[in-house]
Amino acid sequence: MGNVTVIGAQWGDEGKGKIVDWLASRADVVVRFQGGHNAGHTLVVGDQTYKLSLLPSGIVRGTPSVIGNGVVLDPWALKAEIERIAAQGVEVTPDVLMIADNCPLILPIHRDLDALREDASGAGKIGTTRRGIGPAYEDKVGRRAIRVCDLAKLDDVAPLLDRLCAHHDALRAGFNEPPIDRERLLSDLREIAGFVLPYARPVWRDLDQALQQGRKMLFEGAQGVLLDVDHGTYPFVTSSNTVAGTTGSGAGMGPRAAGFVLGIVKAYTTRVGSGPFPTEQENEVGQRLGERGHEFGTVTGRSRRCGWFDAVLVRQAAAVSGVTGIALTKLDVLDGFETIRICTGYRLDGEIIDYLPAHAADQARVEPVYEEIEGWPGSTQGARSWAELPARAIKYVRRIEELIRCPVALVSTSPQRDDTILVRDPFAG
Ligand code: IMP
Repeated sequence: MGNVTVIGAQWGDEGKGKIVDWLASRADVVVRFQGGHNAGHTLVVGDQTYKLSLLPSGIVRGTPSVIGNGVVLDPWALKAEIERIAAQGVEVTPDVLMIADNCPLILPIHRDLDALREDASGAGKIGTTRRGIGPAYEDKVGRRAIRVCDLAKLDDVAPLLDRLCAHHDALRAGFNEPPIDRERLLSDLREIAGFVLPYARPVWRDLDQALQQGRKMLFEGAQGVLLDVDHGTYPFVTSSNTVAGTTGSGAGMGPRAAGFVLGIVKAYTTRVGSGPFPTEQENEVGQRLGERGHEFGTVTGRSRRCGWFDAVLVRQAAAVSGVTGIALTKLDVLDGFETIRICTGYRLDGEIIDYLPAHAADQARVEPVYEEIEGWPGSTQGARSWAELPARAIKYVRRIEELIRCPVALVSTSPQRDDTILVRDPFAG
């Protein structure tokens, strides 16, 4: 039995929550390795719906869960989320949740800066979640971040605060904002430290030990490969690496720890925020996909942009992320369409290409080349075996596998955990 890494293979919101929950129930430890509370994972367990942003999905079932150093952690958001799920009956104790002590913090000044920049950008805005994710990662690589371990030594934090404030005060002045209120920031940090520190540990040691003991690990990615800061639709991306290769650096493990890489792929395409989207349908098709798929953001409540399945993008995402197999989700949203389109290539300057070019201007200009397949009569909702799927729905799934050059390991046919067709068990390698 090996480890499993789950990543989104489109622009996020592929339905990772359900798959991760299902896998988490069989894992010994669940690890978040990038992103922050910009993620929105919805878990439906029985008649309860849990909405998680920062906490690893194992938490709901009491599976030991780790927030790795590759995450940016807003301690106030953490507290609010822990209190919210406590109200739903889920206790989060330091036995269950472990936070890397070298994890950088998201501070209120990061949230401010995220919003100031977005508001000032007009039509060129990224459409971020305004959670301060980008500014917090900037401070991490700029070597001026305050990290979880600093919460235990706030009397010594002045030199770090000097660097941080010098940088931010200059930026804030450009937006006509007052300098950082250092005293207030420090007192806020002192207040939240007592909440966070019981969870803080050198988690790489726990993970190393778990690896030695042959424990099954589940690495839970957030967002999707097309939002990766290197491989996504730059600059309309998030500020972390979302590819599976990040598991090692974002958790403190070697590159082999990732194990089976399960790419979560929605049977059509959605995107929140700005940026290129070749197969977007700003028409009744997009509207229908959005309505049937309940495509509203978990974190921001924004409507998601919707379009046809883009095999070019998923093939690329699978390649740069080393996807072993995919979990295809929300197939039932396509029930009832007379014809369904799949994008198999792009037309650019009179040529057909089979990849998304790196330049944003080219990404905005590519025209999708579609193939059309017949829709299926009846419903795929709730199917738990191939035999329960209409033949044409199976044909659609098989065509996707062929085009993206990756096998299907799971097909998810409703938000309910058991409505899943298991083709290949990722934990079995
Ligand atoms: P940020 O991560 O808040 O900086 O936002 C950057 C881009 O990533 C925006 O287009 C967001 O809509 C998108 N984004 C961030 N997190 C998620 C997610 O969990 N699902 C889908 N899109 C996301």
